[in-house]
This record gives sequence, C-alpha cells and structure tokens, in this order.
Amino acid sequence: MISKFPLRFLSSLSLLSVQAFAARPSIVPVGQGETNTALSSTHSTLLTTAAVPIASAPASLSLSGYPKGANATTSPTSPTPTSNVTLPACKSIQYAFPSGTGGNATRAAAIKEAYQYAWNGYVEYAWGYDELQPLSKNGTNDWYGWGVTMVDGIDTAIIMELKDVVLKMLGWIQSVDFTTTPDGNVEAFDVTIRYLGGLLSAYDLLKSGQFYNDYPADQIEALLSQAKILADKLAYAFLTPSGMAAANVDFSTNTPVEAQYTAPDGKAYNSTNTASAGSFLIEYYRLATLTGNTTYRSLVDTGEQLLTHPSPAPTYPGLVGTQFDTTGGGMLNFAGGWHSEVDSFVEYLIKIYHYKADNITQGYADFWLDATNSTVEHLAMHPYGFEDLTFISGLDDNGTLTYTMDDYACFSGGNFLLGCKVLGIDALCDLGIAAADGCHQTYNTTVTGLGPLYWGWFDSESNTFPPDPTMDIDGGSRKQAAANGEFIVNGDEVYGSFPESVESWWYAHRITGDPRWADYAWDMFLGLNETARNSVAFATVNNVNMPFGESQGDSLDSFFFAELLKYQYLMYADPSTIDLGQWVFNTEAHPVRVQCNP
Ligand SMILES: *[C@@H]1O[C@H](CO)[C@@H](O)[C@H](O)[C@H]1NC(C)=O
Ligand SMILES: *[C@@H]1O[C@H](CO)[C@@H](O)[C@H](O)[C@H]1NC(C)=O
Ligand SMILES: *[C@@H]1O[C@H](CO)[C@@H](O)[C@H](O)[C@H]1NC(C)=O
Ligand SMILES: *[C@@H]1O[C@H](CO)[C@@H](O)[C@H](O)[C@H]1NC(C)=O
Ligand SMILES: *[C@@H]1O[C@H](CO)[C@@H](O)[C@H](O)[C@H]1NC(C)=O
Ligand SMILES: *[C@@H]1O[C@H](CO)[C@@H](O)[C@H](O)[C@H]1NC(C)=O
Ligand SMILES: *[C@@H]1O[C@H](CO)[C@@H](O)[C@H](O)[C@H]1NC(C)=O
Ligand SMILES: *[C@@H]1O[C@H](CO)[C@@H](O)[C@H](O)[C@H]1NC(C)=O
Ligand SMILES: *[C@@H]1O[C@H](CO)[C@@H](O)[C@H](O)[C@H]1NC(C)=O
Ligand SMILES: *[C@@H]1O[C@H](CO)[C@@H](O)[C@H](O)[C@H]1NC(C)=O
Ligand SMILES: *[C@@H]1O[C@H](CO)[C@@H](O)[C@H](O)[C@H]1NC(C)=O
Repeated sequence: MISKFPLRFLSSLSLLSVQAFAARPSIVPVGQGETNTALSSTHSTLLTTAAVPIASAPASLSLSGYPKGANATTSPTSPTPTSNVTLPACKSIQYAFPSGTGGNATRAAAIKEAYQYAWNGYVEYAWGYDELQPLSKNGTNDWYGWGVTMVDGIDTAIIMELKDVVLKMLGWIQSVDFTTTPDGNVEAFDVTIRYLGGLLSAYDLLKSGQFYNDYPADQIEALLSQAKILADKLAYAFLTPSGMAAANVDFSTNTPVEAQYTAPDGKAYNSTNTASAGSFLIEYYRLATLTGNTTYRSLVDTGEQLLTHPSPAPTYPGLVGTQFDTTGGGMLNFAGGWHSEVDSFVEYLIKIYHYKADNITQGYADFWLDATNSTVEHLAMHPYGFEDLTFISGLDDNGTLTYTMDDYACFSGGNFLLGCKVLGIDALCDLGIAAADGCHQTYNTTVTGLGPLYWGWFDSESNTFPPDPTMDIDGGSRKQAAANGEFIVNGDEVYGSFPESVESWWYAHRITGDPRWADYAWDMFLGLNETARNSVAFATVNNVNMPFGESQGDSLDSFFFAELLKYQYLMYADPSTIDLGQWVFNTEAHPVRVQCNP
C-alpha cells in the first residue's frame, strides 16, 4: 500500500518546518541520450523498440513481441506455467501451532459481523459504486466505476465463507467492462493492486480447494478472464522509453500518460514514484503463470531491473528514493526508506522470491537484503529515553534522516519477519519484532487505541529533533515524546482504515506463535468498533487522540474490506487458514498461491 495521502504527507513535512540539510553532491540522473551503466545495452534496445510504436501507431499498438525483460538481466529463465513444472516443496514459515490452538472463534465471528455490517451499508446506499460514503449515505466512483469495493473485497468474503456476499460479487464482476471508464486516465498502480490483485486472489482461493467454492463455474472462470482483459489494457503503461511503467494509461488511446516531477536539481522529468513502478511483480508473475503468457512477466521485470540497479547510487545500499525518470530510467531523489512512495517496491522484492526462486528473483532478494542491512545500520532508531522502542526513520530528498515514520512503513515489521523465514536469517526476525512493537506503541498510547498517520521522535543521544531543533520549545510534542517515545505530527492525527500495523502483528503472530500479537489486534478492533462505526457502516476517524476520535470522515475505502478486516480475521482464524508457506500477499492483502508443492 502506498501514498493514500501524498499531499498531506508533504504538508506535514512543512509543518515540521524541516530545515535544509547539508547538501549532497548534485544528483546526476540518467537523462535522454545517456545510458544507465548497469543496463546500457538493454536500455538502448528498449528505447528503440518501445519508442517506435508509441510515436507511430499508438491506437493499434500490439504488445505481442514486446521486448522481453529478458535482456535486461544476465539470464532470465522463461517462466513455465504451473502445471508443467516440478514445484519445490513449500517452505515452513509459520510457527508450529499445536492443533486447535492459535485461533479464537469468538473474535473471528466479531470481525465477520463487522464485514457484513459494512457490506450491508454499501449494498443499501452505494450498490454498484466504487465506494460507500458512510456519512452522506451515498456512493462515489473514485476508482473508475468498476465497483472496487466488490473486486477488492471479494477474497476476504471468500475466506470468511460469506456465501451470499460472494455470490453477489461474482455476478457483478462477470458483468464489468474493464476496458473502458468515463473517469479519465487510469492509474496503473492502484488498479493493479486493488483490481488485478483482487481478481487473481479470488480465482486462486476458489481454485485451491481450501474454501467453500460451490459457485457458478463460469463466474469463477470470469475472474481470470477479466484479470487478463484488465492486464492487457494496463500493459500499455509499460510502453515508455525505459520500459518502466508510466503512472497512468489512457484506455481510449492505449497510451501511457506520464506524471511529472521536479527533482531537487530543479529539472522536470517524466516520472513515477518508486512504489507505483515497483509493485507489479506479484500480480503479473501470477498472471503469467496462470495464463502461460510470459510477456506479463517480461513487462514488469524490465522496469524492476532499473529500480534494482539505481543510478545514481542511493545514499545507502538498497534504499532508493521516491521518484524515477520513466524516460531515462534514473533515480531522481534520495528519499529512501520503508515509507509512502517507496514501501511496496521493497515489500515485493522478498515476496516475489518467496513466490518463485530463480535467477531473476534472487537478484531482487539480494537487493532487499541490502535494504534491510542498511535499515539496521542507519534507519532503525531508538528514541530518547526509550531504549527498548524502535522506529524506522525515513530519509529526505537529500538522503538525510528525518526522525519520522508514517503508518505505511508499519508493514515493514511483517516484511522483515517473512524475509527472516524465507531466507533463514534469524536477526531479521528480531528487527521485525522490534518494528512491529514500535508501531504498536503508536496505537496503544492514544486515547482511541488507533494509531496516527505520522509521528516523529527525539534523538537518543542529543535529545533533539534534528530536522527542526526548535521542536524543543514545542511543549506539546516534547511532552508527548517524553511520555510515549514519539509525538504525533500536527495535522496527521487521522486514522483512515490503515491496515499496516495489524498486518505486521499478524505476521508476528503466525511466525512466533506469541498470543500477545492477537491481543494487540483485538484491542485495536475494539477501538475501531467504538470510534469508526456509525449507523451506516464504518468511517475514518479524524483524531486518534481525542475521545471517540473527535469526528468521523466520509470514506469507507475498499482496503477496509480487502486489508484491514482480512488481517483482523486471519489473526483469529485457525492458523492453517492461508498458510504463509503456501500463499503470498500482494500489497493490498490479496493472497496468491506460492509456486510450491504443499
Ligand atoms: C536538499 O539539498 C538542496 C541543495 O543543497 C537544497 O536546496 C534542498 O533544500 C535540500 N532539501 C531538503 C529536503 O533538505
Ligand atoms: C500476452 O500478453 C501481452 C500483454 O498484454 C499481449 O499483448 C499478448 O497478445 C499476449 N500473448 C498471447 C499469446 O496471448
Ligand atoms: C536480446 O539480446 C539478444 C542478443 O543480444 C538479441 O539477439 C535479441 O534480439 C534481444 N531480444 C530482444 C527482445 O531484445
Ligand atoms: C541461472 O540459473 C541456472 C540454474 O537454474 C544456473 O545454471 C545458471 O548459471 C544461472 N545463470 C546465471 C547467469 O546466473
Ligand atoms: C506439459 O507440457 C506437455 C507438452 O506441452 C504436455 O503434453 C503435458 O501434458 C504437460 N504436462 C502437464 C502436467 O500439464
Ligand atoms: C477469545 O476472545 C474472547 C474475546 O476477546 C476472550 O474473552 C477469550 O478469552 C478468548 N479465548 C481464548 C481461548 O483466548
Ligand atoms: C450521490 O452521489 C452521486 C454520484 O457521486 C452524485 O451524483 C449525487 O449528487 C450524490 N447525491 C447526493 C444527495 O449527494
Ligand atoms: C515526456 O514524455 C513525452 C511523451 O509522452 C515526451 O514527449 C517528452 O519529451 C518527455 N519529457 C521528458 C522530460 O522526458
Ligand atoms: C551488512 O553490512 C555489513 C557492513 O557493511 C556487512 O559486513 C555485511 O556483510 C552486510 N550484510 C549483508 C547481508 O549484506
Ligand atoms: C500498551 O502495550 C504494552 C505492551 O506492549 C502494555 O504493557 C501496556 O500496558 C499497554 N498500555 C495501555 C495503555 O494499554
Ligand atoms: C461492535 O459495535 C456494535 C455496535 O455498537 C456492537 O453491537 C458489537 O457488540 C461490537 N463488537 C464488539 C466485539 O464489541
């Protein structure tokens, strides 16, 4: 999951009056006419191949025969459809819960009730719209009008075995025309993680034999055929000079539509944020496996190679900045970390290796290991006076520590824990536990029991907040930090159905078997039920540190169904439900089958 509040995020930074930091050597991104040293030959191949169709005949462009990401690396082995390879045995990732332990049926039933309650509100006031507006009792088409609540939410309903809900959703999904929208250019990233991920996951779950699946066979098959139809439109995003996906696609002309970014050097680039460009691997690899069409995989490997061979080099190995140039392929700033706009890029590197280990994904896992290593050495920090508490700082555009963390970065605890088990590096489990505990601190120190969007802390030795040393005279922040180890950044007290902390507690629960993680999630759910629930469904909460959250906001995001309630439910379901050795989650919490033999 990434930047749900990118503007707010930026305004927070200015609220903190972040000062100019020591200048870095000037950024030298790879520009037009230049080549990326790591990928020079490929790069020019892609330039020639892709630039021609874009310029000449965009509307009739065919993607068949599009360059394979193949040449972007030393030796890509062609992926083979599942049925025709000998799969390795599934890894044992989870704690060995004694049979009948690790779940709690009472709590699971309460989460199911919450899902059904919110779903009923959607059906009553917003049927067929993308999302429900729980205060104005209306629907809104903010994600192209394809009913994102249903496509994003169906796999959770399948896992909960809410049969009537699934049946309604399947009927809807079969009828959607994913090739057209009245709502302008289509954002490739969110449509991939929410819609494509939702379709593929629902298909995998129903085909797995692990869940009730007595639904119409043609509607189950439609999940995959619709995924293919949607992906074949999104594929045009990749027809940029670098092969890295443009931020948007125009579905009426089948052309990429670029976003722009002005780098710290003042130059404007066609650009994409790193999380957007780097969160396609799971969805497209899975689609390649299920359809046998290797082009889906080649398309995403090409851009991924640029992200994992960044030019210029990031401040610390693995910690790439938030923006890349989709024309030249270069990195445009040094704002690395696990936060918004980078987050799911790093997240997918280890997950795709878990999905399928091969020559290419090994490179991704290595890059992930660089990032975690740099995190241990530079980003993981203890705040002043709280030596047992750990937060993961971000870097600013110039590569300097921000002493801040956003809730999005709270997925990192679970990601470190997964990597610990997948790679067999025990120290990463310690890092994961520390990060998951740090995020818990931001929840259970608020009035509501819900966590804020963004917080900061004081340096463990100097007891200053280096980005803005005048924070010392801000009694509110100082007082909060003295009590809790962190202070909530002004203006970022909102709770908007963020799933990332619960996600990490769930990994911690499944991997360590320690019941305290389930208790944390339950406390959080009670706070949510108390403050976010209203007479229609659930809403967002404006201030986590005021009684009853102060007031509610008029949104029920599709990830409330897809992510928050899925991780909550799985926390109390029998631990064999979605075993982490057999399933890998995309960043929107959609599990697909790992390429292994259970
Ligand atoms: C980064 O460095 C540049 C050049 O020294 C400076 O103008 C800019 O303000 C700095 N950015 C941040 C976020 O500190
Ligand atoms: C494979 O997928 C690509 C990308 O959408 C598409 O252009 C191509 O026609 C597909 N190939 C086959 C054989 O279906
Ligand atoms: C990949 O590289 C080989 C050898 O350089 C070349 O023959 C082939 O045409 C390239 N393939 C693509 C799709 O660019
Ligand atoms: C790719 O993997 C195969 C084994 O699967 C190995 O023999 C080969 O050397 C690898 N190639 C490269 C370039 O790493
Ligand atoms: C594997 O592929 C071959 C030829 O393409 C086919 O005859 C065979 O049935 C396939 N095996 C499986 C298990 O699908
Ligand atoms: C299950 O959850 C309920 C509600 O929180 C709690 O009262 C009960 O003790 C839990 N049961 C077990 C076995 O942990
Ligand atoms: C409800 O939403 C629709 C679509 O967004 C809009 O056209 C309509 O004006 C809204 N109705 C009310 C009462 O706000
Ligand atoms: C951005 O992309 C457009 C084509 O989509 C191209 O005409 C333009 O030159 C590009 N600009 C830069 C700065 O790369
Ligand atoms: C992590 O960094 C340290 C210090 O640079 C180095 O010794 C170690 O080998 C690195 N570990 C990995 C896994 O890269
Ligand atoms: C917060 O959680 C910790 C365990 O991490 C617990 O010891 C503490 O009592 C909790 N505080 C509150 C206010 O619930
Ligand atoms: C959630 O809130 C509803 C409405 O107030 C209540 O009926 C239900 O019992 C609550 N769930 C839990 C687990 O407290």
